[in-house]
Amino acid sequence: MERENFGNRFGVLVAMAGSAIGLGNLWRFPYLVGSYGGAAFIFVYIFCVFLLCLPIFMSEVIVGRRSHANAYGAFKKLAPGTRWKWLGAISVITPIIVVSYYSVVGGWSVEYFLKACTLEFTGGMSRSEMGSMFGDFISSVWSPIVGHTIFLLLTAAIVISGVKSGIEKFGKIMMPVLFVLIILIAVRAATLPGAGEGLRYLFKPDFSKIDASVCSAALGQAFFSLSLGVGTILTYGSYVSRKENIAVSSTYTATADFLFAMLASCAIMPAVFAFGLNPQEGPGLVFETLPFIFSNMPLGWIVAILFFLALIVAALTSSISLYEVGVAYLVEEKHYSRRGASILVFLVAWVLGILCSLSFGPLSGFHIFGQTIFNLFDKLSANVLMPAGGLLLVVFVGWVMKKSDVIDEFTNGGTLKTNVRMSGFVYFLIRYVCPVAVLAVFASALIF
Ligand code: PHE
Repeated sequence: MERENFGNRFGVLVAMAGSAIGLGNLWRFPYLVGSYGGAAFIFVYIFCVFLLCLPIFMSEVIVGRRSHANAYGAFKKLAPGTRWKWLGAISVITPIIVVSYYSVVGGWSVEYFLKACTLEFTGGMSRSEMGSMFGDFISSVWSPIVGHTIFLLLTAAIVISGVKSGIEKFGKIMMPVLFVLIILIAVRAATLPGAGEGLRYLFKPDFSKIDASVCSAALGQAFFSLSLGVGTILTYGSYVSRKENIAVSSTYTATADFLFAMLASCAIMPAVFAFGLNPQEGPGLVFETLPFIFSNMPLGWIVAILFFLALIVAALTSSISLYEVGVAYLVEEKHYSRRGASILVFLVAWVLGILCSLSFGPLSGFHIFGQTIFNLFDKLSANVLMPAGGLLLVVFVGWVMKKSDVIDEFTNGGTLKTNVRMSGFVYFLIRYVCPVAVLAVFASALIF
């Protein structure tokens, strides 16, 4: 059977940027910025994205395009008969774990979008009312499971339609919409009285705030935001045609992802400061603080609808990339039909997601390694499996693959002159700098 490819450069870009831009940008990044000291965190984050994670991103695309195979098949093809296939196996299992809890949060977004549409965030509610609204909602049994199911069904529907007519088409329509939505919201936030304080918090770094915990949070977020170490970029890379310029598509993606995270922060932080709230709110920022702000600001109901719509769209373009990893594996290695594979991935992620969702309510007392199921899935993937997967992947590209093959992929057989000139530097980053830096940051996070 012929493998599908993305249609053109724009298709590659929207698919990859769609995977990268997600809850990580709208939900995780702003609250980490708030918790880790504003502009100083962003400063370290820029370094992590462009110097460390971008070469890892390119490495994933290189493995995918070189092998033209799914995350498991890629390692079997490029290093036959070795234990590297275990990295492939982890790369197929991790995204299924991630998509199961990711779609629980996606489901919360669906519910909050519906609440916004029925004008529940109007009439000046208090911060504590919003807190208990969210607390009651996530600890209940049925509504979050319904949201999770809707979100996962939407994901499955797009993936079933295929790489070109599902994933790529959805991205081409939705990614521009997403940027327009977030710009509209940022403009509204920046014009609130007192917003300047929030912008200063984002753009004026206090370097004394940088320490090991800031570095490891920034690197972890860069991994999460660029969708690294879980086989998604590898799988998308396998749909990139031989003509594409890997360095250019990867750099565009990382830049778009970074810009979007900044736009999201510019939409959120000025409003937080304008209302005199604490930026260190943590994970509740998007579902508690923001609805409070929406309910108290002029035209807030429209902003609320736009914001939660943006959250759903951003989350969907990411969850389809997670979902596709398992589907590509089942189709190519186990000879499932695309539909059959999608149904199987749906069932596994649906059941795991239900357990995650219930871990805020009836299963909240059930702990594994001292964590609820949701927190275990989140921590295990973001703090252990993703960085470990990314680390092993650059080691694979830098030390196991033949240098000439890596350079050949990077330069399209020597035909891309700029890439030929840069290839020595990029290869050096992949072979030495990335593995050492990633190891150092994670070791220091364990020690301090
Ligand atoms: N990058 C996505 C986000 O920022 C999350 C994600 C992680 C998607 C890993 C795919 C793989 O929300």
